[in-house]
Amino acid sequence: MEGKKMKRIGVLTSGGDAPGMNAAVRAVVRTASNNGVKCVGIRRGWSGLITSDFVLLDSSSVSHIINKGGTMLYTARSLEFMEEEGRNKALNTCKLLGLDGIVAIGGDGTFRGALAISRQAEKNGMRLRVVGVPATIDNDIGCSHYTIGFDTACNTAIECIDKLRDTMQSHERCSVVEVMGRHAGYLALYVGIAIGATAVLIPEREVDFDRDIVEKIRRARLAGTTHYMVVVAEGAGSAIEIADRIHQETGIDPRVTVLGHIQRGGAPSARDRETASRMGYEAVMSLLEGDEHSIISVQNGCLVRMEMEEALQMKKNFQMERYLILEALTNRQDHDY
Ligand code: F6P
Repeated sequence: MEGKKMKRIGVLTSGGDAPGMNAAVRAVVRTASNNGVKCVGIRRGWSGLITSDFVLLDSSSVSHIINKGGTMLYTARSLEFMEEEGRNKALNTCKLLGLDGIVAIGGDGTFRGALAISRQAEKNGMRLRVVGVPATIDNDIGCSHYTIGFDTACNTAIECIDKLRDTMQSHERCSVVEVMGRHAGYLALYVGIAIGATAVLIPEREVDFDRDIVEKIRRARLAGTTHYMVVVAEGAGSAIEIADRIHQETGIDPRVTVLGHIQRGGAPSARDRETASRMGYEAVMSLLEGDEHSIISVQNGCLVRMEMEEALQMKKNFQMERYLILEALTNRQDHDY
């Protein structure tokens, strides 16, 4: 489609929602509009293309949403879209709508769907440019140092855990808090450091219960602490089972809190609103400037456009530096034991 001006683009949100998605949608619509490009909101992720569930969006459609959690376009995971037949139905909708490009806001699965439909469009003699905007509270997308929603989710978890600490301190108890992160412990690691956890369990590190929990509680107790905060990423184990084992091995009777989906809601933080706005803007410019399949990534604080296929091969390095700092701050050495 060299030279052909883009006239209309779609925007969708897919996968687990994240605070800041609305800010990204707003920036996409406003940037497109300011460049004379029409915008179509596709509802419920990729399935919205299969079911023709869409809404025409203009600059005023996205007023007053920058500060709202969730996504005005809804989100869903679509099994039908994983099949070629489902994607052909989706392409028919793209043809009917006259879409030249799609901005897909979500995680790795969202981007794999974007690449698949763009490739299928080429097979069908169509041109459909796609660009991904990383958004998941897990911050576990390999090509980007940051994903929309992570900062807000951390602040939500920290606010909840600070409240828990008050009552644990009063009753001299142990709190075992499960945070989100099905496959990655970035949220747990970051929150663990920020709340001064006694111990943190993450899926990236095999758990040695005595070393990682019992010994840390013992050392904290010897140092005079009388309440203990244990943070567990859901991918590292069940907070209930971990609490039971703490009870068996230390005699302490912990209280369990699973923060769950509260971490996915709430007004996006300043960082998420600003990052999402810049990413949404950059995504539209990527389409307008002719990129076929890109992902707008954060690298060392700057936005870069990465070729989608290459970006999806990238794995995120374990944050060893943060982990070592956490270890240093949780391994109390106050006394010779
Ligand atoms: O978006 C990521 C995530 O929040 C994970 O941390 C969590 O395990 C998962 O989504 C929950 O998925 P669902 O909302 O489908 O239960």
